[in-house]
Amino acid sequence: MARVVVVGSINMDLVTLAPRFALPGETILGDRFLTVHGGKGANQAVAAARLGADVALIGAVGDDVFGTQLHDGLTHEGVSTEHVARIANGSSGTASITVAEGENHIIVVPGANAQVMPAQIERAQSTLASADAILVQMEIPLESVEATLRIGQRLGKPVILNPAPAQKLPMEWLKLARYLTPNQHELAILLGADASEDFHALMQRAPAPVVLTRGGEGAWYRESGEPVHQPGFEVKVVDTTGAGDTFNAALAVFLHEGLPTAVRKACAAAALSVTRLGAQGGMPTRTELDAFL
Ligand code: RIB
Repeated sequence: MARVVVVGSINMDLVTLAPRFALPGETILGDRFLTVHGGKGANQAVAAARLGADVALIGAVGDDVFGTQLHDGLTHEGVSTEHVARIANGSSGTASITVAEGENHIIVVPGANAQVMPAQIERAQSTLASADAILVQMEIPLESVEATLRIGQRLGKPVILNPAPAQKLPMEWLKLARYLTPNQHELAILLGADASEDFHALMQRAPAPVVLTRGGEGAWYRESGEPVHQPGFEVKVVDTTGAGDTFNAALAVFLHEGLPTAVRKACAAAALSVTRLGAQGGMPTRTELDAFL
């Protein structure tokens, strides 16, 4: 069983389903509202656990009602919460999500996620040392993203950096990642490049191997030489929220089977995840993934 440690955000997702997106200044009627568990870190942890990995999450929630629900949800999914801090007088992270026209718009308010500092990650060193793969995203302070990369390097553990939401990062940090897993838009921002630049060229320029996600088209990966294409799997799309998180989790879980196999399984898991509503709603179990493949 793979052991995956995730460092990242935990949010309550406030999801509105609407026939279309509202324009600035406009009010429209939506179809449905739901409150579901999310946050890139928590999503990746839950997806990895459903795929059969032994998973620990390093993160934080507030001491509000959402915090209790999010904490209990992680425990219920079998994710170790030993390193999930409860921030006194703090609010849990939230994401206001509108799903319309097969797309989503997301606004994240970090709340307790902003309190995930390097010292907390250092304290979890023995947990990180037990990992086969470490996953980190960018909804926590950037200094903590850096700390995760440096600790991973020190411990000789592969760190997968999912640079979302994207920001430009120092090349020196990126070199510490075993894999970078952006989409095309995120890769351009990460490297401070022009968004119109060919993604093959951007992949060649990145200072660490890139596994680039392309939605329904699948993924491209490159360790050395030319980028290789893994086509996507055709499914009926209900909600794409959390597809990237499922992809990253599967990549980490199956990395020991070699990159081509891990990317293929990650594309399949991500495809399954978009067939149901909510970031965590569609994340497949190992049995579901095996049956689909
Ligand atoms: O990647 C999807 C996630 O992004 C959502 O669950 C939301 O919480 C935001 O963090």
